[in-house]
Amino acid sequence: MATGTAKPRAYGCGRCKDQRGLAVMVPALANSPPSDALVLFGVTGDLAHKMTFPALYAMVRRGALTVPVVGVASPPWSVHQLRARAVESVKASGAVIEKSALRRLLSLLTYVSGDYNDPATFASLKRALGGAGRPAFYLAIPPSLFATVIQGLEAAGLSDRGRVIVEKPFGRDLASARKLNAIALAAFPEDSIFRIDHYLGKEAIMNILYFRFANSFLEPIWNRNYISSVQIVLAEQMGVGGRGAFYESAGCLRDVVQNHLFQIVALLAMEPPVYQGYGAVRSEKTKVFQAMRPLRSRDLIRGQYSGYRRESQVAKNSDVETFCAARLFIDSWRWEGVPWYLRAGKALPETIAEVVVELKPPPTRLFSDSKPLTGPANYLRFRLAPTASVAIAARVKRPGKEFVGEQRELYLVEELLGAEAPYERLLTDAMKGDGALFAREDAVEAAWAAVEPVLKQHSKAIPYRRGSWGPREADALVTGGGQWRNPTKGGATE
Ligand code: BG6
Repeated sequence: MATGTAKPRAYGCGRCKDQRGLAVMVPALANSPPSDALVLFGVTGDLAHKMTFPALYAMVRRGALTVPVVGVASPPWSVHQLRARAVESVKASGAVIEKSALRRLLSLLTYVSGDYNDPATFASLKRALGGAGRPAFYLAIPPSLFATVIQGLEAAGLSDRGRVIVEKPFGRDLASARKLNAIALAAFPEDSIFRIDHYLGKEAIMNILYFRFANSFLEPIWNRNYISSVQIVLAEQMGVGGRGAFYESAGCLRDVVQNHLFQIVALLAMEPPVYQGYGAVRSEKTKVFQAMRPLRSRDLIRGQYSGYRRESQVAKNSDVETFCAARLFIDSWRWEGVPWYLRAGKALPETIAEVVVELKPPPTRLFSDSKPLTGPANYLRFRLAPTASVAIAARVKRPGKEFVGEQRELYLVEELLGAEAPYERLLTDAMKGDGALFAREDAVEAAWAAVEPVLKQHSKAIPYRRGSWGPREADALVTGGGQWRNPTKGGATE
């Protein structure tokens, strides 16, 4: 693959002061006009159907999308077929149908059909874009085609003032991520490259950053002296469905651990940014990735649900994992020695994402139950999906003469009604040139470096029953007398 000279970089926002001289965020968007066209590569595909059209419709409804939208893909469709597909997709998403908004979306849509390897496709796209001066190119295509499309755009002179929005996984490992970054940077400057990790656009995930740094009570205990372990689980009931081919090339580690789970780790583990601007937040998160001790094969259990090999487009002898359990360490002053237990998988009992930060028990056993014999000591729990909430578990005394008690949760629920969905928010931001919620090149590479050893060397995927919490072997990863906490929906507080 050809790599060129990198375009000059500019990491978004600058540090500014408010009237009291305090550092505040002022996004450096002044010289960055909004995109005046949106190009969707892979417009006939699954991602566009499930996520992109519903997001575009929501943007139109909010008045955030008024510019032409050009779909590009290989099927020789007419624009009418594309519009019918868009309607079908919006309806299937369950969105409230506002006829005038849907009509507005359809009127923005045009279609260019062609092979991504053929320069004629990009010439047709150029014509379709007419006078657009700052188009945003969204690559909703298999990662193996990113380089081809980016180079096609560059060769057609379309990248000059454009922005490119790329889906994860960005690369397959450190070497391919570096290569891809070099190709992207040869065509677009860093501040015009938007690497989507849709988890960063979720309300509940953004709330981790806010909750940590908008409150002062956490900071004194948010370290190795008070925290005994952190567990993060991203569980899904569904199997791989129609995405067998993608899964065979990715697997759970690449699909959700190296990106979604690591982003959550970074938000929980990062140092306070020096200002609220995204440059500072992204720098602190990058340091967490850099401090991650690279996973060794004994830190990872890979599982595969029974029946996976019978899914469409899956090899009969596939060793691809649909479940991962990992024990991660962050070698930093704050986190030295604290295990981070991560789990993610398909065909698990629930569709739930949750973080549990477990605190150390009091140093002396003043009350017989101040260190529970079973179950966790005090903890903080962030429910990230399907609802968004924060709970703080503390022991309270039961009435009576005895000094015994029970652990109860102080429970805060976040109201998500009316919140922008991740893709809606992220596409809107990218078209405005706002990179706050996107991954930066050095962070992506550092995250790959942390999983690199287990990409190369790992034990075989262990079969597990559909609807179970993965292979039993994962239990041995949790040390120090702890255990995995399996979240449930419909508990007392959820
Ligand atoms: C995607 C993965 O990035 O995230 C999927 O490719 C996974 O395999 C999905 O199902 C989970 O996202 P969400 O928003 O449904 O939790």
